[in-house]
Amino acid sequence: MENFTFYSPTRFEFGHEAEKKTGELIRMFGGTKVLLHYGGGSIRQNGIYGKVIAALTAADVQFAELGGVVPNPRSGLVYQGIEKVRKEGIDFILAVGGGSVIDSAKAIAAGAKYDGDFLDFYRGKAKIADAIPIGTVLTIAAAGSEGSPNSVITDEENKVKKGAMSDFLRPKFSVMNPEFTCSLPPYQTAAGATDIFIHVCERYFSNTKEVSITDRLCESVMKTIVYETPRVLRDPDNYEARANIMWAGMIAHNNICGVGRTQDWASHHIEHELSAQYDVTHGAGLAVIVPAWMKYVLPIHPEKFVPFATEVWGVPLDMVNPIETAMRGIERFEAFLKQIGMPSTFSDIGAKKSDIPTMVERLFSKKETEGNYVKLSRDDVTKIYESVADQ
Ligand code: NZQ
Ligand code: ZN
Repeated sequence: MENFTFYSPTRFEFGHEAEKKTGELIRMFGGTKVLLHYGGGSIRQNGIYGKVIAALTAADVQFAELGGVVPNPRSGLVYQGIEKVRKEGIDFILAVGGGSVIDSAKAIAAGAKYDGDFLDFYRGKAKIADAIPIGTVLTIAAAGSEGSPNSVITDEENKVKKGAMSDFLRPKFSVMNPEFTCSLPPYQTAAGATDIFIHVCERYFSNTKEVSITDRLCESVMKTIVYETPRVLRDPDNYEARANIMWAGMIAHNNICGVGRTQDWASHHIEHELSAQYDVTHGAGLAVIVPAWMKYVLPIHPEKFVPFATEVWGVPLDMVNPIETAMRGIERFEAFLKQIGMPSTFSDIGAKKSDIPTMVERLFSKKETEGNYVKLSRDDVTKIYESVADQ
């Protein structure tokens, strides 16, 4: 195991009616004037908006609003948010939504405390040194942004989707009421579950030895997603299944499963090019890329694919031919993705073979290799894209 620092100071309020505490939590963390940030309208349709407003009013918290965050959140709204925060003297941002809303809130929070262009943080040109505190009311289990130090924003001018990371971006608190996720369309539920599963894969596929504690944690989160996702798709109002998926989403990405080991992240970066180019739902893009990545790297470096097959998918170990065992695991993973309605090819997500060189060029604009479990070259990534490019 490698040395590590683990810092995860977010306070989580989880369960029935947890949102009632939102106003007092903002006060606890020093907020006096809040920016209520949200997406495209789902929170008005499912009643979450009214519940949050009631909690703010009950705690006598003043607020201004900025809605309109779209999935794969854009830089344009972040600039508007920064201006609003400065003009209205806002000292706390409350994100009510999913990863897109939370990431946009994080970008505004850091950008408002910075004299230059906030995209400098996402272009690797500047380091976040301060941010307005943020809190979240989570409405979809997926990105894990409610407990992560990350934010991913699309620079809409250049069609580039990049991440920034800083402990200043960790939410002060996250309110997690699993009932809030019952109104999700099945496709979003499944895409979220896929993202959660793959946040764990990015950490599980590691070359670091002797990390049995995090390996076992990873396997248990993956098995939970495999068990609970079909259950919740059959029975969308199943509170217990929603609760387990929601907490899995946090555990999968606050890095408790990733400490002390090298992590991969090639699949995420390869997928972000797809979301930037075609505005694909992130989890759906991952469903196309990850099995392709697995089949490509398996012959080069099979080691972790064997426990992946036996521990997560229950494949019996073939001692004579462990590669066969590993392959069965990948096949079961693919069957699971199909069962929950996730796409598997470029045509399913509207991507085009002719754009592969552009995406590869963007991905490698500042680096020579991608990922760690196997270090991929431009040629490798091109082949991974091509293996699922049927149009
Ligand atoms: O915009 P609204 O109306 O809210 O609708 C959203 C959106 O259309 C809808 N939705 C959310 N909660 C709902 C609901 N619809 C009905 N009922 C509810 N309760 O779902 C759609 C997707 O929302 P979004 O926030 O985009 O989903 P998600 O949480 O998957 O976030 C995706 C974004 O997070 C980034 C992704 O790249 C993508 O941009 N990621 C962020 C990470 C992080 N900050 O740590 C890590 C991840 O790997 C990921 O890259
Ligand atoms: Zn993700």
